[in-house]
Amino acid sequence: MAGKTGGTPAGKIQKQHTTKTTQMKLTHLFSLLAAFAIAVPAFAEEDTPLGKEMEKIGKNLKAVNRDIADASKKADNVKKVAEAKEACAAASKFEPAKTKEVPAAEKAKFLEGYKASMVEMGKGLDALKAALEAGKTDEAKAALDKLNAGKKEGHKKYKAD
Ligand code: HEM
Repeated sequence: MAGKTGGTPAGKIQKQHTTKTTQMKLTHLFSLLAAFAIAVPAFAEEDTPLGKEMEKIGKNLKAVNRDIADASKKADNVKKVAEAKEACAAASKFEPAKTKEVPAAEKAKFLEGYKASMVEMGKGLDALKAALEAGKTDEAKAALDKLNAGKKEGHKKYKAD
C-alpha cells in the first residue's frame, strides 16, 4: 500500500530534501535582493543637483545636434545652447559626488581642476553659440565634438564610477 500513501520513505525523504534546497535558494535570493536594494542608492549619481544640471546640458545639446544643419531652427538652437550655458554655470557651483573619495590633501586641487573644466565647457558652449548664430554648420559641429570630448574627459576624472 505504499503507493497510495505517497511513495516510498526514500521518495519522501528525496521530496523533503528538494523542498528544503528550494527554500534555501529562495532565502539566498531574497538576501541578495535586499543587499542590492541597500547598495544601489549609494551608487546612483543621477539625482545629485550636479547630475540634474548635467542632464539639462545633455538634453539641450542632443536637440541642437539633431537640428544643427537646419537653418529654420537657428533661433531654437541658439536658445538651447544658452540654456545649456546656464546649467553649466549652475553645475560649476556644486562639488562632484566623487569629492568624498578624494584624500583631504588632494581635495583643493581636485575641485580646482573640476572648476577649470567647467569654465572650458562654458567657453565651448560660447563657441557653439557663435557658430550657430553665424550659420557656420561645420564650425558648430566641430564645437559640439569638442564639447563631447570634454564630457568624456570630465567624466573620467570627476564622475564617481
Ligand atoms: C557635453 C558636456 C556634458 C554632458 C552632456 C554631461 C552630462 C552628464 C549627465 C547626463 C550626467 C548625469 C547622469 C550620469 O550619471 O551619466 C552627468 C554627471 C556628471 N558629470 Fe557631466 N556632462 C558633461 C560634461 C561634464 C564635464 C566637463 C565635467 C567635469 C568637469 C562633468 C562632470 C560630471 C560629474 C562629476 C557628474 C556626476 C554627478 C555628481 O558627481 O554629482 N560633466 N553628466
